[in-house]
Amino acid sequence: MRCEVLTLFPDMVLPVLGQSMLKRAQEKGLLEVRVRNLRDYTLDRHQVADDAPYGGGAGMVMKAEPIFRAIDALRQEYGGALRQEHGDDLRLLLPSPQGRPFTQAVAEELRDERRRLVFVCGHYEGIDERVRTGLAPEEVSIGDYVLTGGELPALVMIDAAVRLIPGVVGDPESVLAESFADSLLDFPQYTRPPEVRGLAVPEVLVSGNHEAIRRWRRKEALRSTYLKRPDLLRDRLLSEEDRRLLDEILNEHTNVC
Ligand code: ADE
Repeated sequence: MRCEVLTLFPDMVLPVLGQSMLKRAQEKGLLEVRVRNLRDYTLDRHQVADDAPYGGGAGMVMKAEPIFRAIDALRQEYGGALRQEHGDDLRLLLPSPQGRPFTQAVAEELRDERRRLVFVCGHYEGIDERVRTGLAPEEVSIGDYVLTGGELPALVMIDAAVRLIPGVVGDPESVLAESFADSLLDFPQYTRPPEVRGLAVPEVLVSGNHEAIRRWRRKEALRSTYLKRPDLLRDRLLSEEDRRLLDEILNEHTNVC
């Protein structure tokens, strides 16, 4: 995966890229990220990247020209190997609360993208609308709330996509087994010691019975989904086993109430 992050605040992004899985993915050559300071693409001596809004009002608006110039520079730098196929070598993404919701399916799509992903990070009261009309970036939202800028959403999207690349997360099975991969929430996990403050590990997990453990985990994933995110079960085709497990769960919960 190859990414570019265009931002006025590189230090909001760089430290996160230098840690943990994102760092390892880069070291292994599975992720390439460059962070560019949009101030480097301004035209004036004072490197002004924002200005007051036309028509008045509070706050500042990010200027369009530095963003256009940064994209021009990227296009020049990276040539046009994919231009024939896609019309461009770059896939422009604009993190914005107005965008298409970012989901696990979008993360998979970004992982599989052959073009360079360019995250254009907005700040202040917004970005000059001509960035939208002139560059037609895809707007993507990471949730129905408003953040101070696009840097954290860009990192969220990179993180969610990169960990789906085989070899980034240590055990590929943990990626396959986990939440949302097949739209179920995770089953509970435990580690040593067997008892913490009077709370014991479920017996089945120390039984050594692999089939019983598999079944317990499936049931607890279904239970967690049923209790916390029932919407994820609504349109799902359930296997025979899942239906039986879900019946057991429903019985257990109606007996408790
Ligand atoms: N920028 C500000 N808020 C955002 C959000 N919720 N998602 C993506 N980008 C944003």
